[in-house]
Amino acid sequence: MTRGVSILGSTGSVGAATLDVVLSQKETHHIDTLTAHNNVALLADQAKKSNAKRAVIGNESLYQELRSALAGTKTDVAAGRTALLDAAKDAPDYTMAAIVGMAGLELLLAAITRGKCVAIANKEPLVAAGPLVMQAAQKSGATLLPVDSEHNAVFQVLDQSQKHMVQKIILTASGGPFRNWTVEQMEAATPEQALAHPNWNMGPKISIDSATMTNKALEVIEAHHFFGLPPEKIEVVVHPQSVIHSMVEYTDGSVLAQMGASDMRIPITHTLGWPNRLNGPAQRIDFKKISALTFEEVDDRRFPAIKFAYDCIKQGPSASIALNAANEVAVSEFLAGRIGFTEIFAITRSIVENGKEQAGDGLEAILAYDELMRTKAKACILERNSSSDSPPKRKVL
Ligand SMILES: NC(=O)c1ccc[n+]([C@@H]2O[C@H](COP(=O)([O-])OP(=O)(O)OC[C@H]3O[C@@H](n4cnc5c(N)ncnc54)[C@H](OP(=O)(O)O)[C@@H]3O)[C@@H](O)[C@H]2O)c1
Repeated sequence: MTRGVSILGSTGSVGAATLDVVLSQKETHHIDTLTAHNNVALLADQAKKSNAKRAVIGNESLYQELRSALAGTKTDVAAGRTALLDAAKDAPDYTMAAIVGMAGLELLLAAITRGKCVAIANKEPLVAAGPLVMQAAQKSGATLLPVDSEHNAVFQVLDQSQKHMVQKIILTASGGPFRNWTVEQMEAATPEQALAHPNWNMGPKISIDSATMTNKALEVIEAHHFFGLPPEKIEVVVHPQSVIHSMVEYTDGSVLAQMGASDMRIPITHTLGWPNRLNGPAQRIDFKKISALTFEEVDDRRFPAIKFAYDCIKQGPSASIALNAANEVAVSEFLAGRIGFTEIFAITRSIVENGKEQAGDGLEAILAYDELMRTKAKACILERNSSSDSPPKRKVL
């Protein structure tokens, strides 16, 4: 018997890397379900390559196309949001949650209800609905495993029996493509420049989040919920080489770090094998070729998002929902050429700061608040762009 694997978001950067890892473990693992939103061609290709039991495309209008592409194979085909939810609920031994954004929240919760292993790359649901996700896992008995390289690093070196002796966790940040840029340079940054991450090859949304360092802001909130640590025990340090993926400092002064190449297949392989280790296909570090490991403080003036994340945690859950929702909208508007790079955070902050309403508890209330904040962010962008002194000025990607 081999272990079944579902990949929610298999056509994305993390999803494709997960498939690569699973295919390298054919003796012990098989693909159960693969899902995508629009990319029929890659989904069909992946399903054929892995003999997937099921392939689901979120966009219902693409059902026939997927069916034709998989005609003559044993893969069951389905389409639409309900089919995605059904597939997620039917979680096999291991599910990789690799959808981007809040669109993944309901699917993540559906996978958790089955009480199996759920590896979480999709950080936005943890940011906006951390307590809900953690409580769902407690209720079903599901094992949640962090895939984000920083959280996976902390998970690997955090001795659960000594958690009370943790002084702090230290999340490392590469600093992104604009680490040495001035604010003036960032104001004129194009999507192409912002997408060009120096160390990691990732999907567009997280690449832009890395350039604004909002990715680290989201990760602080993610760590707060995932590890149950107060914000004062979570620190961020810039480490441009991305060799140390994060650290845990204990009260005796010992600091434990996890290191590895900038290759998401390392945390993915770790979660797939957990609690054991597997032979993985990831790149290896050659320490002889690394001349220095350096560390810097975050410059809050040029990258204000991280400090703002701490304020959001203090303000309560509504602020984190608003931060995530407004940021998702602003990133997509930047990629579409409708706002400038530094406006991403400016808009996000104004939505959080002007969010007078409070979100209720529970999934429906969180989704409703998320939607409200998106509507406000879109309205704010329309208003900025219609005023003569702030015209849309960016080139479309
Ligand atoms: N990339 C990394 O190295 C990395 C590292 C750490 C954490 N993460 C986190 O992992 C998540 C995925 O990142 P990524 O870079 O892999 O993203 P990505 O390359 O953009 O892939 C996103 C995946 O989600 C699917 N998707 C998009 N919208 C959807 C919707 N509304 N409903 C259902 N599926 C949808 C996409 O399908 P289509 O292809 O059909 O559009 C694709 O399979 C993010 O939360 C990110 O922050 C990523």
